[in-house]
Amino acid sequence: MKKLVIYGSKKMKGEQYVQGSKNASLPIIVSTILTKGKNVLKRCPNLNDTVNTCKILTMLGCETKRHKDCLTIDTKNLYGFEISKHLMNTMRSSIIFLGAILARCKEAIVYLPGGCAIGKRPIDFHISALEKMGAQIKISGDKLHCKVKDKSLKGATIFLSFPSVGATENIILAAVTAKGTTKIINAAIEPEIEDLCCFLNKCGAKIKMFKTQKQTIVIEGVSSLTPCEYEIMPDRIVASTILCAAAATHGEVLLKSINKNHISHVLEVLSSMGCYIKTYDDNKIFLKSTENLKAVKQIKTMPHPGFPTDLQPIVMALSCLCEGTTVFIETIFENRFQHVNELKKFGAVVEVKDRVAVTKGVPFLHAANVYASDLRAGAALIVAACAAEGISKIYNVPYIDRGYEKVEEQFFKLGANIFRK
Ligand code: UD1
Repeated sequence: MKKLVIYGSKKMKGEQYVQGSKNASLPIIVSTILTKGKNVLKRCPNLNDTVNTCKILTMLGCETKRHKDCLTIDTKNLYGFEISKHLMNTMRSSIIFLGAILARCKEAIVYLPGGCAIGKRPIDFHISALEKMGAQIKISGDKLHCKVKDKSLKGATIFLSFPSVGATENIILAAVTAKGTTKIINAAIEPEIEDLCCFLNKCGAKIKMFKTQKQTIVIEGVSSLTPCEYEIMPDRIVASTILCAAAATHGEVLLKSINKNHISHVLEVLSSMGCYIKTYDDNKIFLKSTENLKAVKQIKTMPHPGFPTDLQPIVMALSCLCEGTTVFIETIFENRFQHVNELKKFGAVVEVKDRVAVTKGVPFLHAANVYASDLRAGAALIVAACAAEGISKIYNVPYIDRGYEKVEEQFFKLGANIFRK
C-alpha cells in the first residue's frame, strides 16, 4: 500500500491555484441528471469521489468525459434507476442520487451510503422529507426501493430539526422539477449549497435562499431544466489546509482564485495566532507565519455560518504547535477526534473527554509513522508531518485522495518535501 513520506520541518513557500470544491462538485455532478443533456463543469476536481460519482452516472446510462479540470456530462440517454451496493458504499454523498433519480425516473433503487466513519450519519431526514414530497420508500436491510406515488413529486414545507447538508441537497434535487413550491426551513446554507443552487438556477431552476429568515430555501418547481456550462467554487477546506500547513512551518504562501468570505473562520483563527494575512483583488490571499504562534482559546464547530467541522482536525494539528491551550468542542459528529491518537505520535499534547479536546502547544513536533482514519484526519496529519522534525510516513492515503487532488504535488509545489512511495 502506497504511503506519503514527508521530510518535515521545511518552510512552505510559494503560490497555489486552489482546486475546485469536492463538496460542491459532487451534488452538482449528480444534479446534471435533471437536465437531460450535455453539461460542462469547469474546475471540477479529479478525486476518488468525483470518479466514483461519474461511475454511477455511467451505470445509469450517462456519458462522462474529462479533459484536465473540465468534466463534460451528457445525461440525455439516462435509462437506469438502480445504483449498485458497491458504488453506493464508496461515499456518503451517493445518497443524494436518490432525490435526483426519483425526480427524473419516478423510481429509484439505492443502498445505504458509505463515507468517512466520523459518526453515525443516519439518513432519516432525507427519507422523511422525500416521503412528504410524495415518495413511497421501502427499506429492507440496507436496500431502499423508492417510487413516486403520483405522476410526479410534489412541493412541501419541510422543517429540518438540524441543518443537514446532505438532506438539504437531496430535497433541493427532488424539488426543482416537482409540482408546486417546496420550502426548507432550517436548511443548511453552506457555500457548497449556494453553489449547487447557483448551478441549478443557471439551468432554469427557481431557487431562493433566505439566510437570515430561519435559514429558509424556497424552490418553485419548474417543468424542465436546460444543461449549462458552470465553474465550480474553489475548495475552502483545501485552501485552509494549505494555509494551516504554511503557518505550522513558519512559511509564507499566496493562494490564488479563492473566495475570502468562504474561509473567513480560518483567516480569523490564523490572524489571532499571529500570522500576517493580506487579501488582494478579492480572490488572492497572502499568509506569512511567525515563529511564535499563539493559541486561540476555543474552537467550537457549528453548521454554517459557524466554524466548519471539516476544519477542526486540521486546525487542531496547528494548535499543537501554538503557545498556550486551545479547547475544541465538536458539536456535529460524535466520532471526530480519531486524529488525536495519531497527533500524539508526533509528540503533540492533547486530552480528549467526550466531545471536547484540549491541546497544549509544544515548541516542536517530531517525525512519526501514522495512519489516516478519515479524509480530514489525514489532512491534519499532513500539517503535523510538514512541521515535524525528521521523516514521517502517512498510511491510508486513499482517504486523503477523496478530497485532495494529487496532494503530494500540491504540497511539493509549495516547498514541502513530500512524496508518494
Ligand atoms: C456534509 C459534508 C461533510 C461535512 C458535513 C457537515 C459532503 C459530501 N460532506 O456531510 O464534509 O463534514 O456536511 O458540514 O458534502 N444527520 C441526521 N440525520 C440525517 C442527516 C444528518 O441525524 O438524515 C446528522 C448527522 O449524523 C450529523 C449532522 O446531522 O451529526 C450533520 O450531518 P450532515 O450535515 O448531513 O453531513 P453530510 O451531508 O453527511
